[in-house]
Amino acid sequence: MIKTITSIKNAKNSEKLVMITAYDALFAHLFDEKVDMILVGDSLNNSFNGQKDTLSADLEAMIYHTKAVLRGAKNTFVVTDMPFASYIDEKTALKNASKIYQRTDVHALKIEGGKERAHIVKALSDNSIAVMGHIGLMPQFARSDGGFKVKGKDEASTQKLIDDAKAIEDAGAFCIVIEGVKEEAGRAITEAVKIPTIGIGAGRYTDGQVLVWSDMLGFFEEFKPKFVKRYLYGADLVKKAVEQYANDVKNGRFPDNEFIY
Ligand code: KIV
Repeated sequence: MIKTITSIKNAKNSEKLVMITAYDALFAHLFDEKVDMILVGDSLNNSFNGQKDTLSADLEAMIYHTKAVLRGAKNTFVVTDMPFASYIDEKTALKNASKIYQRTDVHALKIEGGKERAHIVKALSDNSIAVMGHIGLMPQFARSDGGFKVKGKDEASTQKLIDDAKAIEDAGAFCIVIEGVKEEAGRAITEAVKIPTIGIGAGRYTDGQVLVWSDMLGFFEEFKPKFVKRYLYGADLVKKAVEQYANDVKNGRFPDNEFIY
């Protein structure tokens, strides 16, 4: 059964939550009902669009891909990333979040940021927009942070993450993604809040896990972060199949009797 905000919150301490990204109808359809949540992540800017980071993903792109994912996954809770600079203040955030909500049937939106963006989470939640938080390593802010850095390596950094998580929980978030933190920090944050945490490179003790589909199915070859488990070697399979097709055509083996009218 399709998850709701209430059932996602209730999953804490009772079942692990599973989330995967999707960017189009084809793959969303394959993932539909196999996972609890599908994230239309702005990682689509790297994985789908070939850009070097997520920063140039814009609202129109997120709306376009969200509509496609929703057409493919009719029975799964779908969350969309608010893109970089679309929530710089409460007014801008409300305007842009409302645009996504009005133009798609997405169930919730995700924004990156802790204590410093709790007022944005509150502005959206107070206006009936469901917000998933995202703390720890935040790809939208990696450039200003000097790169993709693992967080929670010491007590002070872990305490900051806990404060961030509590602030966005208090502001009304229903769930929090924790990215790129030491396992003990992932555990401490998860224990400190009542809403579920979804980890990506955050160890074993979060309330759920999320992976980028093209990483976990082995289609994205440029690099593989340590936390990614490959469940398929998609790129190898596709390349071999296309090579075979090309050979068959060149050598007159395709089409044969089976494939002609
Ligand atoms: O954009 C994305 O895919 C994400 C995940 C890494 C959580 O935010």
